[in-house]
Amino acid sequence: MDKKDYLNLMGIETWSEKAEDDSVTKAKITAHSSLSKDQRWDELEKCAKVCTLCDLSKTRTHVVFGSGNRNAQLLVIGEAPGQNEDLQGLPFVGRGGQLLTNMLRSIGLDREKIYIANILKCRPPQNRDPNPIEVATCTPYLLQQIELLQPKIILAVGRIAAQFLLNTDEAMAKLRGQEFRYHDTPLLVTYHPAYLLRAPREKRKSWDDMLRLQTYLQ
Ligand code: URA
Repeated sequence: MDKKDYLNLMGIETWSEKAEDDSVTKAKITAHSSLSKDQRWDELEKCAKVCTLCDLSKTRTHVVFGSGNRNAQLLVIGEAPGQNEDLQGLPFVGRGGQLLTNMLRSIGLDREKIYIANILKCRPPQNRDPNPIEVATCTPYLLQQIELLQPKIILAVGRIAAQFLLNTDEAMAKLRGQEFRYHDTPLLVTYHPAYLLRAPREKRKSWDDMLRLQTYLQ
């Protein structure tokens, strides 16, 4: 089975596969549905970990697939791995990650209870913003993660995650404090912890976001 077959099996379409015969794709998706949920997670992760669909694969140290509880009620979605995440292969493990961990812990959510993933699975050099091609290429992995997890609520952390999931260009100021839906799943938006480290006065607002989040999970 080559990489394309693998991606099809996961329901992930690559650019060149769009013209592929429909029946072939259907057969592969049927095969894929015979896997257990855990197997689908494992296959998806395996796929992502060898991904070379965009140029970030040339500069990454590790693919940061996501981590946490595959039965979590809460899915936290950030932007992209930073330097520490790239080195360790885990999301939100740097200073910002520690802050996010503490914020969630303050409402009783340990990391083992939740699932954390990013829009991009590989670090953009110098932590620049993801470009539209990278987002379009990488997000099928995230969409599969959402489908597998079927969370009770999604917390979009920062502008890039919120704008992608809500398909909007609105600024953070407009997105925070409202309840959205991602398909049928409630979605809240909060500040990115890297921003909170630069603007600690905004932590009060992010505390409000945590309290709002808590009400959904009770
Ligand atoms: N910033 C993010 O958005 N995600 C991470 O995993 C780390 C930093």
